[in-house]
Amino acid sequence: MPALALRGGIPVRAEPFPAWPVCDGREERALIETLRSGVWGIPRPRVEEFEARFAAYCDARYATACTSGSTALILAIVACGIGAGDEMIVPPYTFIATATSVFMANAVPVFADIDPNTFNLDPAAVEAAITPRTKAIVPVHLGGCPCDMDGIMDVARKHGLRVIEDACQAHGAEWKGQKVGAIGDLGCFSFQSSKNLTCGEGGAVTSNDEALAAAVDSIYNVGRLPGKGFHEHFGLGTNFRMNEFQAALLLCGLERLPEQTALRNRNGALLRELLSGIPAIAMQISDPRVTAHAWHLFPFRYKKEQCKGVPREKFLAALKAEGIPCVAGYTPLYRAPLFQNARFGAHGCPAACPFREGKADYSTVHLPVVEQVCGEMLWLQQRILLGAEDDMRDIAKAIAKVVEHADDLL
Ligand SMILES: Cc1ncc(COP(=O)(O)O)c(C=O)c1O
Repeated sequence: MPALALRGGIPVRAEPFPAWPVCDGREERALIETLRSGVWGIPRPRVEEFEARFAAYCDARYATACTSGSTALILAIVACGIGAGDEMIVPPYTFIATATSVFMANAVPVFADIDPNTFNLDPAAVEAAITPRTKAIVPVHLGGCPCDMDGIMDVARKHGLRVIEDACQAHGAEWKGQKVGAIGDLGCFSFQSSKNLTCGEGGAVTSNDEALAAAVDSIYNVGRLPGKGFHEHFGLGTNFRMNEFQAALLLCGLERLPEQTALRNRNGALLRELLSGIPAIAMQISDPRVTAHAWHLFPFRYKKEQCKGVPREKFLAALKAEGIPCVAGYTPLYRAPLFQNARFGAHGCPAACPFREGKADYSTVHLPVVEQVCGEMLWLQQRILLGAEDDMRDIAKAIAKVVEHADDLL
C-alpha cells in the first residue's frame, strides 16, 4: 500500500464528505413566508404544527418545542418537581448539559458508569448509585444508540424514580420498535446545529404523561395556563418558547428526517461490516433490542495495543491526513474543571445544599469503564453517514491503511 499521507503519500480521499446542515428552496420559501406573515412569535401556528408533527414522529402524545436541548432538560427536571436536596443519576459520557441542567434545577447530578460496548448508562451501575435522595435517572442515548431501556425502566420502577431520557442525539432511534423520548416519563431533544434535525438552536420535550406535559407547557410559558389570560401566571416559570422561524426550518427538516435516518442506518451497518475485520477497531455494539439507531455519531474505540502502540492522537492525525475527519470525543464529565473546582451556584449550592446532608465531592469520583473508553474513543459525525457507499469504503480503506503503516507513526 502507498505511503501514509501524513508522511507525504497520496491521501485515500481528497473530496469532502457531505456538508451539514442541508437545505434547499423549501427552507428559503418557509423562512420568507414566515418573515412576510408578520407572525414571528405568539400565537405560533408553525410551532404548534411542528409540535404536533414531532410528537407523532416520536410516537408521543405531547411535544413542547423550546429554545434548546439544555432548556428541554431543565424543563423536564422542574416539571418532575425535582429541586433542592434531590439527586439525579446521569452518565459521565455525554455532553455537559446532561449534568449541568440538574444543577440549573438546583439538584445534584450523581455519576454512574457506562457499559463498555454501548457507551450508555449501565443499569446495574445506576442501581448501585441510588441513595434515599435519588429522584430520577437520565439515560442518554449516546450518538443515537438507545440505552437499555428495559433495564433502566426496571430499576426506576423498583425504586420509584422518574426517567428523563436525554434523546438530544437520538431523533428517530427505536428501542424494541418504540421511538425513544416517550419510553420514560419525559424525553428531551436538541435541534442545535450539529443535530440530525436542526434549526440552528432549539429543543423539545416529549411525553405520554398528560400532567407532566401540562407542567412543561406552563413552566416554559412563564407560568401561564391554557385558556387563561396572557397576564395571568399560576406557577413559577420562564420564557423558553421556540419562535416561528425555528419551527419553519424544523418542519422542512422533519420531512427529510426519515429518509436521512434510513440512509445513516444503511451506511452505519455497511461501515460496521467493513471495519469488523480490523482488530484495532472496537465498534459500539448495539443491543439486539435496538431496532433503529439514529447514528448521530459513529463512535468506535481505537485499541492501540492492536496497532503497535501508536497513540490515539497520532492515529487520529494520520486518519485526518488521509481525508477522514474524525474527532476524539468526550472526557469523563466529572473531570471537567466545573466539577473538579466545584464552581457551582451562589453559597456553594446546590452541591452543598442545606437540604442535602454532606457536600457532593466530584474530585473523588473514579469510574473505570468511562475512563478507559474515553482514552480510546473516536467519532465520525452524522453528516459523514449521509454519503455514498463508496464513501464508507474510503473510510474503511483509510483506517486499514493507517493500521498497516503503524510502524511509520512510531
Ligand atoms: C446528549 C446531549 N444532551 C444535551 C445537549 C444540549 O443540547 P443543546 O446544545 O441544544 O442545548 C446536547 C447537545 O449538544 C447533547 O448532545
